[in-house]
Amino acid sequence: MVEAINVVVTGAAGQIAYSLLYQLAAGSVFGPDQPINLRLLDIPPMMKVLDGVVMELEDLALPLLRDVQPTADPAKAFKDVAAAFLVGAMPRKEGMERKDLLAANVEIFKVQGDALNKYARKDVKVLVVGNPANTNALICSHYAPSIPKENFTAMTRLDQNRAQAALAARIGVQVDKVKNITIWGNHSSTQFPDAAHAIVTTSTSTKPVVAAINDEQWLNTTFIETIQKRGAAVIAARKMSSAMSAAKAAGDHMRDWWLGTKPNEWVSMGVVSDGSYGIPKDIVFSFPVTVQKKQYKIVQGLSISDFARSKLNVTAAELEEERAEANNVLKK
Ligand code: NAI
Repeated sequence: MVEAINVVVTGAAGQIAYSLLYQLAAGSVFGPDQPINLRLLDIPPMMKVLDGVVMELEDLALPLLRDVQPTADPAKAFKDVAAAFLVGAMPRKEGMERKDLLAANVEIFKVQGDALNKYARKDVKVLVVGNPANTNALICSHYAPSIPKENFTAMTRLDQNRAQAALAARIGVQVDKVKNITIWGNHSSTQFPDAAHAIVTTSTSTKPVVAAINDEQWLNTTFIETIQKRGAAVIAARKMSSAMSAAKAAGDHMRDWWLGTKPNEWVSMGVVSDGSYGIPKDIVFSFPVTVQKKQYKIVQGLSISDFARSKLNVTAAELEEERAEANNVLKK
């Protein structure tokens, strides 16, 4: 019999969690044989809403879902967790400066980093979804020094999935025929969705996406801008941010980290930079990674054109600025 693992989801009463929790309970993230205990963290005013979410989880009648505990106490939520989805964050309100948003979130991720440090398993895998996701992941790791830095990641998988779908639509193939797109950098409008090494497989051939599309101008402008602004486009249409697709991407990210990537395929994750590709160390930067035995490795040796380099520099500079702003808040 496989022992249940504890999995925490923060922001558990919110809209991303609402889609994510079903995937976790159904076994599509940790596998069909892995029972889970869910720890649902939100803030005190949301406890009533959370009760409703717990009722619905019971009513799913899914056998992998064992114990479910809603709480507003990080000490309880993070106890012995093997995986953490940090979804809850302070949303940006109208007129709020990026600095203010960062300041509010630094506080949240400091508290949660500290709770992970004290109560979680030392091999816990942490995925930060709440924005600004990359810098929140950095702060969280900073306050959890007893857990390896490699265990803290930020989500850029939604950007990868968006890019994959856009390229497949342009070529006219099913979405799963396109692979090895890279999202570099920050989960923000400076991110660089890069199709330079992506490939497309049809029934008769495998070829570079760049050759299949044969329109460098489109790839270097429209494609990049569409992916960079896709989140804003969803908000403009739905009046709420991406939730179903964000939850699916969070599940994809953790599943690949837990169960491994497919042969000859890579995925993008925000990870603490080790200096690969000349990126400054100690920022959480999205790189192409492969995963085996629950350990990711940054894919090495991809060629970087001058165009790509200029994009990498912009997004790295933004992350360095965010880190500096976060450090200022922490010093106060
Ligand atoms: P939401 O507003 O529906 O839910 C957020 C929940 O977090 C709320 O229930 C709130 O009470 C809770 N929360 C706030 N502070 C908390 C704390 N200290 N501890 C625990 N819970 C707390 O928001 P939604 O749509 O679920 O989005 C969540 C986050 O994900 C946002 O920051 C959003 O910007 C981000 N996001 C990130 C994406 C990515 O690709 N990385 C994509 C889409 C959204």
